[in-house]
Amino acid sequence: MTGATGALGAHILNQLLDNPDVSTVYCLVRGVDALGRVSESLKARGLNLPATDSQQARKLKALTTDNVGAPHLGLSVEEYDKVANSTTLIIHAAWPVNFNISLSSFRPQIAGVRNLLDLASTAAPGKARVVFISSISTAFNLPNTNNSGNSSSGGGGVTMVPESRIPSLEHAAKTGYARSKLVAERICEAAALPSTTTTTIASSTNGPGPDPGLGLSVAILRVGQIAADSVNGIWNPQEHIPLLVRSAGELSALPRLYGYEGRCEWMPVDTVAATVLQLASRLHQRGHNNNSSSNSSSGGGTSFYNVVPPRSFSWNQTFLPALRAAAAEELGGPTTTRSWMGEFEEVGIEEWLLRLRARAEILGDEAEVRLPAFKLAEYYEQTYSASIAGSLSEKKEKKGSDDNDRSGLRFENAKACADSLALKTCPELSNVDIVRKMLRHWFASS
Ligand SMILES: NC(=O)c1ccc[n+]([C@@H]2O[C@H](COP(=O)([O-])OP(=O)(O)OC[C@H]3O[C@@H](n4cnc5c(N)ncnc54)[C@H](OP(=O)(O)O)[C@@H]3O)[C@@H](O)[C@H]2O)c1
Repeated sequence: MTGATGALGAHILNQLLDNPDVSTVYCLVRGVDALGRVSESLKARGLNLPATDSQQARKLKALTTDNVGAPHLGLSVEEYDKVANSTTLIIHAAWPVNFNISLSSFRPQIAGVRNLLDLASTAAPGKARVVFISSISTAFNLPNTNNSGNSSSGGGGVTMVPESRIPSLEHAAKTGYARSKLVAERICEAAALPSTTTTTIASSTNGPGPDPGLGLSVAILRVGQIAADSVNGIWNPQEHIPLLVRSAGELSALPRLYGYEGRCEWMPVDTVAATVLQLASRLHQRGHNNNSSSNSSSGGGTSFYNVVPPRSFSWNQTFLPALRAAAAEELGGPTTTRSWMGEFEEVGIEEWLLRLRARAEILGDEAEVRLPAFKLAEYYEQTYSASIAGSLSEKKEKKGSDDNDRSGLRFENAKACADSLALKTCPELSNVDIVRKMLRHWFASS
């Protein structure tokens, strides 16, 4: 697996180590002290470190590679052969979660996808299954069906994103991050074609002629918003929602949100990890005959899943009140939380952005620490465009670019919920108790 030093990867690793059916987990990690970094990652997320000499510790093999896009995944030939000789499942979760860099910056990651697919096709125990962690942002620019009639419509101005191939590369959000994920999806899909094929992705889009695939079984998981874990409430304080809340004390305000962003489709990171593993195990069982690039005769094929929760809750009506209640309780709690949180006003996003920028100017160099949301001011402005208009209907009347208006997008998840009980029963992160835990973690790390 890749990504064990990140939030999702740490939880996936933790669950793999606890699974008696898993004999070895190879983690490909950047930096010389691969095992040390993985251990730190587990510890930072409140997860158990395997005791020395325990069965779990013996399962865990951390290997250093600074670039999976390099030949042999950046491993020594001996290490590569060892991995290839025993791998049955590859989970690729590592990716720069950075919305400010260009598509070309993701070149090493895209090469890495290709290399991992090659590893899967040469794995000695038989071809390894591959799970690629993608993102729902690969479909954020899907045309509104009610205007174009190109994709399925749920009615009432809602465009449904199916659990299948996204038809055009144009449909990704216009960030290098989203585009790189969609390019990687295409590469995975090509590798899942039969090794001798006459029907190819290229030929179906007037490309340069048929290429055979690698006959792999691949699951592409388009994951939505990953949030705190459901036990300790630990959510990376550097992500956009935590940064917003961490700046509430300094601004005495939080924005009211509408449209897509006002609907909290948040999933606990431990639930997403369990979902990944349940969907991976379905790759063994599924006949892969339910999508465009199916290849059931050879056992390969692509399974697309939208990993989004079955229920959402309202930012304005549920989360802000829970936050207010948790913050009020914390006024008698740890000093760090008391000085950072407390009373806040609810304001429109435009007003909030004005206050953010004005306060940052006053704070100068101190803004970085005391007003951490400031570094994402432009991101909030763009992402919360439906909220800037004040409401979905106002936004619709205001004829502007609809690139960021995801208000009408809904991701189908019936297949993902049918194949993963963890996702189907995904807990909501909206009660005061879990929100209090989030606050404590964010402010302790401020
Ligand atoms: N967070 C979300 O809401 C969300 C939503 C949809 C999809 N996803 C996807 O889920 C996966 C895990 O996300 P996360 O939330 O766990 O992110 P995270 O905590 O930021 O972890 C990212 C992981 O990717 C690795 N990574 C980052 N940049 C890299 C680079 N240039 N080269 C090699 N490895 C690199 C990191 O390794 P280092 O420790 O070495 O930096 C880390 O292991 C990613 O593929 C992400 O795109 C996340």
